Amino acid sequence: MLLDPATGNNFFGRDDILALLKKRADGLRFGYRQNVAIIGPPYYGKTSVIYRFISALPFKDTVPVYIEVKRQGFPAFAEKFIAGLLFKYLDLTEYKAASSGELVSLASDRMPKTAKAVKAIEALIKGGKNLKAYRALFELPAIAYSETGLRPIIILDEFHRLSDLGIDDAFAELGKFIMLQKDTMYIVSSSQINQAKNILAFKPQTVLKCQNRFFHR
Ligand SMILES: Nc1ncnc2c1ncn2[C@@H]1O[C@H](COP(=O)(O)OP(=O)(O)O)[C@@H](O)[C@H]1O
Ligand SMILES: [Mg+2]
Repeated sequence: MLLDPATGNNFFGRDDILALLKKRADGLRFGYRQNVAIIGPPYYGKTSVIYRFISALPFKDTVPVYIEVKRQGFPAFAEKFIAGLLFKYLDLTEYKAASSGELVSLASDRMPKTAKAVKAIEALIKGGKNLKAYRALFELPAIAYSETGLRPIIILDEFHRLSDLGIDDAFAELGKFIMLQKDTMYIVSSSQINQAKNILAFKPQTVLKCQNRFFHR
């Protein structure tokens, strides 16, 4: 589609943002975790630069997990978060999952604590305990790190939509985990500059701005 994010040869520029993201990812590896927010109006290239950052990431001991936050219920968000995280971790530890159906059983072998936590989250959701499940979901990256030694980079694209998940105080809840988990780096993006309040609650150490648009040549 015309307005899909730019990838491959269609992508150019953004060297400054890419250099900073890489520097932050490198810092994470040495215990200097800093979270990043990328803000800019719709179609200014936030998703494109995130995709490029992920595909060019040179560090094998960091695991970028990309989640586009959509206007959807919490269960669908949780499912995407879990699948994204397991898929990336298993991929990097040489366990290739052929389908999302086998992710949890493969993880039981390689990442038993993470797999157990995933099953607990699924049970909470089934029981309608979404707030508990939301909290448990944001514990997952730390658990995955504890048993693999690979540091997670959780990327929440259009993260202001977390407020649409039906979770009370979604940002304050997330804020608690972000403070405590020094081995997890968060990159969040948002097109809603007027929701800057929520972005501030997230307290990113670095705010990057996409200030110009790229047009098709
Ligand atoms: N770095 C880039 N190089 C070339 N084109 C780009 C770049 N960033 C964005 N674009 C163009 O802008 C459009 C919107 O980019 P996208 O990353 O989806 O924006 P956002 O996520 O901010 O809404 C893309 O379809 C592409 O045509
Ligand atoms: Mg986008």
